Amino acid sequence: MPTVTEILETMDYGPAPEASGEVTAWLKARGQFGHFIDGAFTKPGKGFASANPANGEVLAKVSQGTQKDVEAAVKAARAALPGWSKLAGHERAKWLYAIARHIQKRERFLAVLEVMDNGKPIREARDIDVPLVARHFYHHAGWAEMLEDEFPGARPVGVCGQIIPWNFPLLMLAWKIAPAIAAGNTVVLKPAEYTPLTALAFAEICAEIGLPKGVVNIVTGDGETGAALVGSDADKIAFTGSTEVGRAIRKATAGTGKKLTLELGGKSPFIVFADADLDAAVEGVVDAIWFNQGQVCCAGSRILVQEGIAATFQSRLKARLSKLRVGDPLDKSTDVGAIVDPVQLTRIRDLVAKGEAEGAVLHQAEAQLPAKGCFFAPGFMTNVQPANIVSEVEIFGPVATLTTFRTPAEAVELANNSRYGLAASIWSENVNLTLDIAAKVKAGVVWVNSTNIFDAGAGFGGYRESGFGREGGREGMREYLSSPVVKAKPEAEAPDLSAAPVPGAPSKGPAPIDRTAKMYIGGAQKRPDSGYSYAVMGKAGEIGLAGLGNRKDIRNAVEAAHKASGWGKATGHNRAQVLYYLAENLSARKAEFTARLKAAGVAKAADEVATSIRRAFYYAAQADKFDGAVHSTKSAHVTLAMPEPFGVMGVACPNDAPLLGFLSLILPAIAMGNRVVAIPSASMPLAATDLYQVFDTSDLPGGVVNIVTGAKDELAKTLAGHDDVAAMWYCGGPDGARMTEAESSGNLKVTWTFANRDWHGSDGQGRDFLLRATQVKNIWVPYGE
Ligand code: NAI
Repeated sequence: MPTVTEILETMDYGPAPEASGEVTAWLKARGQFGHFIDGAFTKPGKGFASANPANGEVLAKVSQGTQKDVEAAVKAARAALPGWSKLAGHERAKWLYAIARHIQKRERFLAVLEVMDNGKPIREARDIDVPLVARHFYHHAGWAEMLEDEFPGARPVGVCGQIIPWNFPLLMLAWKIAPAIAAGNTVVLKPAEYTPLTALAFAEICAEIGLPKGVVNIVTGDGETGAALVGSDADKIAFTGSTEVGRAIRKATAGTGKKLTLELGGKSPFIVFADADLDAAVEGVVDAIWFNQGQVCCAGSRILVQEGIAATFQSRLKARLSKLRVGDPLDKSTDVGAIVDPVQLTRIRDLVAKGEAEGAVLHQAEAQLPAKGCFFAPGFMTNVQPANIVSEVEIFGPVATLTTFRTPAEAVELANNSRYGLAASIWSENVNLTLDIAAKVKAGVVWVNSTNIFDAGAGFGGYRESGFGREGGREGMREYLSSPVVKAKPEAEAPDLSAAPVPGAPSKGPAPIDRTAKMYIGGAQKRPDSGYSYAVMGKAGEIGLAGLGNRKDIRNAVEAAHKASGWGKATGHNRAQVLYYLAENLSARKAEFTARLKAAGVAKAADEVATSIRRAFYYAAQADKFDGAVHSTKSAHVTLAMPEPFGVMGVACPNDAPLLGFLSLILPAIAMGNRVVAIPSASMPLAATDLYQVFDTSDLPGGVVNIVTGAKDELAKTLAGHDDVAAMWYCGGPDGARMTEAESSGNLKVTWTFANRDWHGSDGQGRDFLLRATQVKNIWVPYGE
């Protein structure tokens, strides 16, 4: 025992262990766990041990979910669905409220259990994870209550299969289950194999409050169990985990009609400008990368510091690093706990060693690590070249890279130099600068002078290969609701374009046929790369030629669309002006367009043109009205939810309604600031190609709309697989939908696949198109000093 004088000399902390007796007794009483299916625990089956990563001790045995277990759970969820979804929102709200209350009653128990199973410090589990879990259920009790008012006509999706990772086991469960059951869905959740215990404790809470059986089902197991859930007849899959598994799930669900949300990895920038409050920023790094041992999808793992302050910042960071306490996660004064599992520890060590071998310099805390258990001293790496493995790959451990930049433009360039786009943290005392950079970084969540803040009231989720869909708040609720069903309309069969290509590209007349259409790329008419065209048939025979587009034409069009990036920066008012002008010019040529559609054999030609003009007016109106929100989050932040365009979108249009179907998809996309590469109707492409002059005379900048004619599915395949296309809409049959979704998995682009519909009526326009043409960025701006 040190003397008081000694303590005063070192000012060191004494041990402050959290009691774990209650949890140990609970584990001992249970010993082994079955699954929680249809309101009861099954008999424990063959399985595996869940161990405490801080000391290697086995905590409990859990069962490995088999295909049969998954099927039984899905069946129970299916059976519970009608009753649960028909309950009045108020009734469901009461159940969610009861869950929240019971979680609060067991806060300390759940925090300790989480710490023992996961290795995170008790301070974090107790002060962050578990309170947020309760907050999620309270918040979503509210959505259940207000559902009918706030989402009129929306229905639950059905049975939701949910797969979660091990870094925030109970919190991820809450993020998944709370919105799902609030919306009237039933769920089958699979926790991660390293950390199944708090999910099983949660199952006990469900049983304890008497939640109707089958509403929540928990099946434990590894990736195989997860894959069985993905392959089950669940109506939706919600996944959080690695990008690699997310990509496999995208492929496995392609064409199944399952709704999908993916929350994947990240390599998030942490940008420190010269005028930042440096001490606050240093403390920010602690929360960004050393929090939860760096096992955080949105960890600020790439520190970018402005050159002039880099040396100072680095030395302050080192000083702070030396004060971090690494050790027993149950000790209340521990800052950094244990890595979740030896497998992950090895992965971190290997990546860091590779980074060093490639020239990076590791600065690590000289903390005394416990003799046993999965511990890794936190740190950061300098001298990291952009090609170094640690610059690109998610380490998922307590190690960040630190590099410098000179100008704000360079900071943005470096920040966006990643295939991910989950989060960003920006530090500067200049509010203008922070908001300018917030708008420019490609990330779903941006924290200004703060980091790693989460709340049930705001959406969370990524851009790019960080996945799609949002969790939390109104945005998150939408992911668990299906829009009112749109009646599918059978589509006229597209011509077989492989049959008779006409040699020679369409060119200037004179020709026996009256019209020869080229591609429209970058605002100019281009001959097809193939040098071939095809005959377009009308009511009374051939009415023109259209180019047979190929991969090269699509690639050129995507490149042209990228060059037109100014369109995304134009104000809503500017875009509205262009769309109004387009309507005006189309109106001036109404008779001509109607006659041409008639000649092509289009049934409601006059209505098609008139409705097209109205549609342009509608989206012109929406261009400066479809806006975001300020979320009411728990902390002192103004949390801005900004709908942003994707950038370059691919659009495969219906074969029917060649003018109206085309414009119904192009207009909402460009109204929101996207640039599109569109494949018009193959039967009647001339309705779209006739629009070139209308576009040219309406001040639509070149490259905003690009048109490639030809065989839809062949061209759509290239577009869906193109890594520089961020979103893809496909209108057509199930084969094309499957192909689009499967091809999109490369860069995990957002897809929307749907059947042909009646484009003349209300199904042909509305907010749903705008929601699907945008992704929400949540920007957290602190207020108060
Ligand atoms: P993982 O993606 O394999 O595991 C996440 C969840 O998916 C677990 O429940 C797992 O059982 C399940 N799963 C695995 N394979 C599956 C499949 N084929 N089908 C359906 N479900 C499947 O991640 P893992 O292997 O635990 O960690 C590897 C790396 O992934 C980490 O080092 C980190 O870089 C990243 N990761 C990212 C997370 C995030 O929050 N974004 C969370 C966990 C891991």
